[in-house]
Amino acid sequence: QAQDAAAGEKVFARCKACHTAEDDTNKVGPSLKGVLGKTAGTHEGYKYSPAMVKAGEGGLVWNEQTLTEYLHSPKAMVKGTKMAFAGLKKDDEIANVIAYLKQFSQ
Ligand code: HEM
Repeated sequence: QAQDAAAGEKVFARCKACHTAEDDTNKVGPSLKGVLGKTAGTHEGYKYSPAMVKAGEGGLVWNEQTLTEYLHSPKAMVKGTKMAFAGLKKDDEIANVIAYLKQFSQ
């Protein structure tokens, strides 16, 4: 499935109230800079829910597969997460927003 970072930037507009990917600033949610390849719940200086910290300690690492699952239904994947977002319904929107996030994950 083709990924389109430019389309993903538009999807990311729905995340922007709580996240930035361009720098390390934490907002309501943690910065998503460098999130691909990162252990869940470990962005410096951000106070995560106990559930997200536990998920990371249990070995959850963010990659295309785990982000796809999380973005479909955050609360189903990480029970107890404080991310107040229902999830993205469309597979292409998820693939594209991951492509966007990848640009800030070198
Ligand atoms: C956590 C992505 C929308 C609030 C996270 C994490 C990811 C993510 C990957 C885990 C980060 C980590 O482990 O370091 C996204 C994407 C969004 C989105 C791609 C849009 C499609 C939102 C929105 C809000 C939000 C709209 C606020 C209403 C949070 C919070 C956390 C979080 C509070 C921390 C969760 C916890 O500690 O349990 N998000 N998010 N996110 N996000 Fe989002």
